[in-house]
Amino acid sequence: MQRRQFMLSGAALMQAMAADIDGAREEFPWASRETYLNTATEHPLGKGTTRAIEEYLRALTHGPDSARDKFENGRLMAGVKEMFARLVNARPSEIGFAPSTQTGENLVLEGLDVQATGGNVVTNDLHYGGSLLNYRKRRKSGMDVRIVKHRDYQMDMRDLERAVDRKTKLIAIALVSNVNGYVHEVKAISELAHAHGAYLYCDVIQAAGAVPIDVRAMGIDFLACSAYKWLMGGRFGYLYVREDLQGTALKARLFGGRSTETGASRYEISTVSHIGCVCQHQALQYIHSLGVERIQAHARPLVARLRKELPAAGYPTITPAGTESPIISFEVKDVAATRSRLKRANVVTTLSGSAEGGRMRVSVSVFNNQSDVDRLISALA
Ligand SMILES: Cc1ncc(COP(=O)(O)O)c(C=O)c1O
Repeated sequence: MQRRQFMLSGAALMQAMAADIDGAREEFPWASRETYLNTATEHPLGKGTTRAIEEYLRALTHGPDSARDKFENGRLMAGVKEMFARLVNARPSEIGFAPSTQTGENLVLEGLDVQATGGNVVTNDLHYGGSLLNYRKRRKSGMDVRIVKHRDYQMDMRDLERAVDRKTKLIAIALVSNVNGYVHEVKAISELAHAHGAYLYCDVIQAAGAVPIDVRAMGIDFLACSAYKWLMGGRFGYLYVREDLQGTALKARLFGGRSTETGASRYEISTVSHIGCVCQHQALQYIHSLGVERIQAHARPLVARLRKELPAAGYPTITPAGTESPIISFEVKDVAATRSRLKRANVVTTLSGSAEGGRMRVSVSVFNNQSDVDRLISALA
C-alpha cells in the first residue's frame, strides 16, 4: 500500500512537473514575430535555453574560473548523454558526442571497413542531399553504393530487398526524410539488414524530439543527429552505437583527447562544444517535461489541416497519407509567386526549385498553433 501510494504520488508529481504545451508559444518568442513553419531547417531557441547560454557567456567573459566550471564539467555532459539516451531508449554508454549528423555517419562508414572487405552500402534517394553526396563520392573512389529510388515519395520494401545481398554491410536511411517527412518502416528495414548480416544506420536529425525513437524496439544499430532541429538547439550532436558493436563491428578510426577505451565515447575525438552542451542540458529537460508523444500529438492536427486544405489551393502534397511526422511537403508550380505571397504574409517555410516548379516543406513544432496554419493557408489560397 505504502509503495503504491509512493508510486501514485510520483506519477502525480511528474504530471505537475510536466510543462504546459500550450505555454510553449511563450517559451519561443520568435513565433510571435513571424509565422515560423520551418523547424525542419532550424528550431528557435527557447527562453530557458537562452538564459542558460547568457549565464555561460557571462562566466566566459567575466570569470571567475568557478563560474566557468559550472558549465564546463563532466557532470553536465553526463547529464546530457543520459537525457539523450533516455530519449531513444539507449544506455548512456551507447551515446557518444559527435560534432554533427554527417560526421556521425562518416564515422560509421569508416569504422565498418565497408570497402576494404568488399562490402556494399544500400541507401535511398529520400536520404539527406549531403549524405548522398558523400555516397556518390565514395562510389567514385570504388565503394559499391546502391541508391534505391523512392516510389511516390515512399520506400517500397521490395525495391530495398532487391538492392540488398549477402555483401551488404550497411543500410543507411534518414528515419524521417528531410524531403517530405516520410517515416521509414524502420523495423522491417532493420530485419532486412540483419537477415543479410548487415547493420542499420539511421540519421534521426528530423526525428529526435519530434517522433518517438526506440533503438531496441526499432532494431537500430547506429544513429546520429545534430541538436538544432526538434532537439531545440545546439550546434553539436550525438552518435549512438549498439553496445556489442562498439570496437568489434564498428572500429574507432580517429582518436584524440576524448577517445576512451570503452563505451561509445571511444568514437569521440576533440573537446565537446560546451555551448552546445549548455543548450542541450536545458532543451532536453524541456523536451522530457513535455514528452515526445505529446509533442507528436500537438503536431498531428496542424499537419492534418495542411494536408486537407493546401491541395485544394493548388499545392498537391508529396507526403504519403498516414505519415506521423511534423513535416509535410507540397508541389509548387510557381516558386517565385509562392515566395512573394509568403513573404508578404510574413510566413516562413522551406521553398526550393525554380520557375518550372518546385517544392514547399512546412514543418511544425510545439510553439505553432492553428492560427499559424490559417495564415499560411490564407496566404496561398
Ligand atoms: C536528414 C538530414 N540529415 C543531415 C542534415 C545535416 O546535418 P548536420 O549538419 O548535423 O550534418 C540535415 C540538415 O538539414 C538533414 O535534414
